[in-house]
Amino acid sequence: GAPVEVDVSTLAPGEMRTVEWRGKPVWIINRTKEQLGSLKQNDAELADPKSLRPGFTPPYAKNEWRSRKPDLFVAVGICTHLGCSPTPKFTTGPQPSLPNNWDGGFLCPCHGSTFDMAGRAYKNKPAPDNLEVPPYQYLSDTRIIIG
Ligand code: FES
Repeated sequence: GAPVEVDVSTLAPGEMRTVEWRGKPVWIINRTKEQLGSLKQNDAELADPKSLRPGFTPPYAKNEWRSRKPDLFVAVGICTHLGCSPTPKFTTGPQPSLPNNWDGGFLCPCHGSTFDMAGRAYKNKPAPDNLEVPPYQYLSDTRIIIG
């Protein structure tokens, strides 16, 4: 499949857009400072907090945000359990009602796996791995290319 170029200049903080790359949904999310700030507190609850498992996180995203730049998160929106597409469960305001003890991110409707705002899978759920970060790079401050 061809690489996909995306203008991210209009993506407001807290906003998410989905583009298609190689027939897969790829999410692009402009995370707020609050969303970034809450990531660290999740580590103890996660299956692979540092994204050490091979195959899901390119070297440039092996950091606390799982991204090239902290704010913009780019991930393949396909659950690492059996391939459903998780539902975004976050807002920039008060949180919607969420399963116990989870501060929001993505919820897979198929078997209940949960992921945080860096696409990291919570422990003791069916999805074994973090959501895949696809190959991408910045062409400029406002344009990225996926693939
Ligand atoms: Fe997502 Fe099973 S496919 S939890």
